[in-house]
Amino acid sequence: MRLFTIDRVKCAFHLDETIKDMRKKNLLLGFGLLFITTVAAVGCNGKSSVTTEETEKPADEPTELIANIDAANLLTTVCYACHNPKSGSHDEMLAPPLVGIKQQYLNATANRAGFVERMAAFVTNPSEDKALMKGPIRRFGLMPKPPVTDEQIKAIVTFIYDNELPTPAWFAEHEEQMHGKAKD
Ligand code: HEC
Repeated sequence: MRLFTIDRVKCAFHLDETIKDMRKKNLLLGFGLLFITTVAAVGCNGKSSVTTEETEKPADEPTELIANIDAANLLTTVCYACHNPKSGSHDEMLAPPLVGIKQQYLNATANRAGFVERMAAFVTNPSEDKALMKGPIRRFGLMPKPPVTDEQIKAIVTFIYDNELPTPAWFAEHEEQMHGKAKD
């Protein structure tokens, strides 16, 4: 019985001590957390200002990338509706493949700016006058004005200049057959 009481007292004392201890710890923990938060906040501030600096430098790169993706999409959805490089044969084409047209424009112009200007001028407002080749007009009829803005046309045409275009499987053979025939 006694033992029990002593034990209880001991136990109560111990509990009391534990609670006190916990309070102390909590206080410490509180201060600790405060300290960590402060350090974290300062750390984050420092970090975020570095990130801002980093993203500010190459400001126009992502925009150019978006323009590129946009141009690639328009090329495949709008232009390839007729200039489809996947057409099975020359007879299935609704328009000449752009890879061949690109070569003609490369031959006819001196540089990237000249290429873009000349091709954009035709695409923006197709006319027999502006066309480099008259043969396709006779065969397919004049290309209609595509449903894109002038700015999008510039982006598409620049994309055509900057990137290798897919060549239809039959194209090389067709070029060979055409070789030597009167050019128009
Ligand atoms: C509705 C069908 C059609 C669409 C869509 C189309 N084209 Fe054409 N395109 C033609 C045809 C047909 C020709 C050949 C006749 C001609 O030159 O007008 C042609 C010819 C061209 C030529 C060569 C003109 C020359 O100088 O001889 C270029 C460049 C051209 N297309 C670019 C484009 C671009 C870029 C797009 C997408 C924005 C596009 N086309 C969308 C039908 C189309």
